[in-house]
Amino acid sequence: MINIQVTDADGVKKEITTTPGSQLMNSIRDAGMVEGTCGGMASCGTCHVYIDEDWNARTGERTEDEGYMLESLEELVEIKPTSRLCCQIILSEEHNGLSLTVGPQI
Ligand code: FES
Repeated sequence: MINIQVTDADGVKKEITTTPGSQLMNSIRDAGMVEGTCGGMASCGTCHVYIDEDWNARTGERTEDEGYMLESLEELVEIKPTSRLCCQIILSEEHNGLSLTVGPQI
C-alpha cells in the first residue's frame, strides 16, 4: 500500500491509502475529491490536479491526449507546468508520499 497527500480546493488535506498499479484518479475520486466524469479517458478534464513541485518529475510526462485536454482547459482554469490529469498517472511504489492539490472546478 502507498499513501498520497491530497489537498482540496479549500485547502483541506486528506491522506489516501491506495495500491500500486492503480490509476491515481480512482483513489482521489473514491475519496470524493474529483469527479472523473469520463472514467479515465483524458476527455473531461474533471480530474485536473497540480502535482507538488518536489514530485512533478516523478509522475512522468503528460500523454498526448492529456496535453490536448489541458490546452483546452486553459481558458477556464490556470494550467501550470505541474498540471496533470490524474487519470493518466498509474501509481507505483515510488509514488508513496506523493503530494498534490486538486485543481479548480470546471
Ligand atoms: S477522468 Fe476525465 S480526464 Fe481524467
